[in-house]
Amino acid sequence: MTAIDTLKKLSALFESARIADASKEAELLVTELLCISKVDLLLKNIELSKLQSDELDVLARRRMSGEPMQYIIGRVEFYGLRINVGPGVLIPRPETELLVEQVIKMCGMPRMILDLCTGSGCIALALAKNFPQAQVYGVDMSDAALKYAVKNAAANSINSIRFFCGDLYAPVKGMRFDLIVSNPPYIPKDDIKDLQIEIRDYEPMSALDGGIDGLNFYRRILAEAPQYLNAGGLVVLEIGINQAKDIKHLAEDAGFGNIRFIKDYSGIERIAVLKMESQ
Ligand SMILES: C[S@@+](CC[C@H](N)C(=O)[O-])C[C@H]1O[C@@H](n2cnc3c(N)ncnc32)[C@H](O)[C@@H]1O
Repeated sequence: MTAIDTLKKLSALFESARIADASKEAELLVTELLCISKVDLLLKNIELSKLQSDELDVLARRRMSGEPMQYIIGRVEFYGLRINVGPGVLIPRPETELLVEQVIKMCGMPRMILDLCTGSGCIALALAKNFPQAQVYGVDMSDAALKYAVKNAAANSINSIRFFCGDLYAPVKGMRFDLIVSNPPYIPKDDIKDLQIEIRDYEPMSALDGGIDGLNFYRRILAEAPQYLNAGGLVVLEIGINQAKDIKHLAEDAGFGNIRFIKDYSGIERIAVLKMESQ
């Protein structure tokens, strides 16, 4: 069968499996498998070998059983970087690119940056690339995630990040930072069962579960942040839907007086930017 006929067949199959963006995902799978561009797929009359057809069947079945496409192809694009992903690490999201974009826009020249809950290392990598003078520290509890983070730093030729395995601030005790960023787990426990299958059944629970009200990590990150911040330092957090009001209270309790939120492209308050009262 030709690649273009395969594409049509796969798109229909994905549509019947109710996969959103069925034709886009089908196209991605075919171009990835054949290592060809979209233009070549559409213009050249490429014929699939039996081996390639069989391989595509296996990949398509994985996708239709709910596995995220990013795990199947093993990577995702994040802020212009190629980030390797797979089971055990959260797939970086576009909302998180907004955090990076805002930090780059508002921070002058941070020298010490801490990325708590670094996962694949996507935030740490994007900031290290854009702040080449900075020393970046990435912390995560998951060995599996950190393996990806280390691999991603090497793959992107970034060597100004030190990754540590540990519980939030534990590995950087006694240090001070100009910028602390985090996209921690923030889904309320009871909401996890309602997430789409790609997330609920495939992405690591430890990257999602923010406790009963989703705020467990913000409580700890904010309460301890003042002792890890340099004067004039900033905390920038990604937050979940409807969490802004609670985060504001938690930040005020921790002594942050200068608090603002930035909305994402859907109008949801998504990024919290926090500075201490006296600064
Ligand atoms: C929502 S993911 C964010 C990953 C990445 N920063 C991103 O934006 O794609 C949260 C991460 O927090 C990590 N994590 C969970 N509990 C932790 C803890 N107590 N200390 C450090 N990291 C933790 C998880 O392993 C996961 O990688």
